[in-house]
Amino acid sequence: MGEVIEFGILDGVASTTIKKLHKAGLVTLESIAVTPPREIVELTGMGMETALKVNALARLEVDPGFVSATELLEMRKHMMRARTGSKELDRIMGGGIETGVITELIGEFASGKTQICYTLSVLAQRPVEEGGFGGRICVIDTEGTFIPERVVQIAESRGYDAQEILGNILVARAYNSEHQIMLVKNLPQVCQEHDVKMVIVDSMIGHFRGEYIGRGTLAERQQKIAGVLGNLLRVAEAFNLSVVLTNQVQSKPDSAYGDPNKPTGGHVMAHACTHRVYLRKGRQNTRLIQVIDSPYLPEEKIRIAITEAGVTDEEGEWDIYDKEDTDEIEI
Ligand SMILES: Nc1ncnc2c1ncn2[C@@H]1O[C@H](COP(=O)(O)OP(=O)(O)O)[C@@H](O)[C@H]1O
Ligand SMILES: [Mg+2]
Repeated sequence: MGEVIEFGILDGVASTTIKKLHKAGLVTLESIAVTPPREIVELTGMGMETALKVNALARLEVDPGFVSATELLEMRKHMMRARTGSKELDRIMGGGIETGVITELIGEFASGKTQICYTLSVLAQRPVEEGGFGGRICVIDTEGTFIPERVVQIAESRGYDAQEILGNILVARAYNSEHQIMLVKNLPQVCQEHDVKMVIVDSMIGHFRGEYIGRGTLAERQQKIAGVLGNLLRVAEAFNLSVVLTNQVQSKPDSAYGDPNKPTGGHVMAHACTHRVYLRKGRQNTRLIQVIDSPYLPEEKIRIAITEAGVTDEEGEWDIYDKEDTDEIEI
């Protein structure tokens, strides 16, 4: 979780500067490394030159720059995976939701994105022996859909102490895109202070789409989204935690090929998210899931169920064919 820095550990940095950093809550190398210098100035009152220096020094300590593939493999051994509630979904995700990267849940309204978030907020906080991360969950809710009663239902269905589960989930409601940007900027401090192991943003693009309307605003919008995603990625890497984002699809009826529904956020989202998980409604309470564009996960299609206990495997009959079932996912 990053060691609290001792005075003088950053070579050439005065102890008064370290004290200022401590006072502002920047007590670890990771939090200094991921906080933009401009913000360090605002938080501590130190000069820009000093802020640039401590930020660069902390970065050097935390981020070794180029590493050999052997070292990379060693670093990835620290990567953890949290189970999702469905063994099938865990399997196609390579064992569960990874730390150190962004996982994106994509799907239309009621496709089950928020239900996966709920389930993760219960399961990912469980101890490592139970397939969780043994840390807190931080939820940035932009749509007001994160209802604690549903968390209680999932926790109790799975035999957990609901009060304990609720106590390990930090929820912030983001009222607009600027608020969302601010909440994400504060994540290094929050993650450090509360031992957060998973950050959920549900949904990532909604506010931006709602506020930046028209072609003329597109560049600015994409730039803002890229900034938020950059901050999220740095937090994922520096704290070795999972970031899970949800994203809607937008209908592009003029699309010349495949599914007319495309994830929103364009290339900026596509680049930042390591694993993109596409959800579709299936028969009854089931959802069809496929990983798309992953650097190493197969694009296999599976089915999960949404029940009282949140996300589970489907227990129904596989051979009963339902005409309404949208079994084919074409991306
Ligand atoms: N308590 C529950 N038990 C079973 N299914 C539920 C429960 N709550 C919600 N659902 C299912 O989840 C669906 C909504 O999924 P949700 O994840 O909120 O969609 P979105 O992708 O828009 O976030 C509902 O249509 C319903 O089918
Ligand atoms: Mg939702």
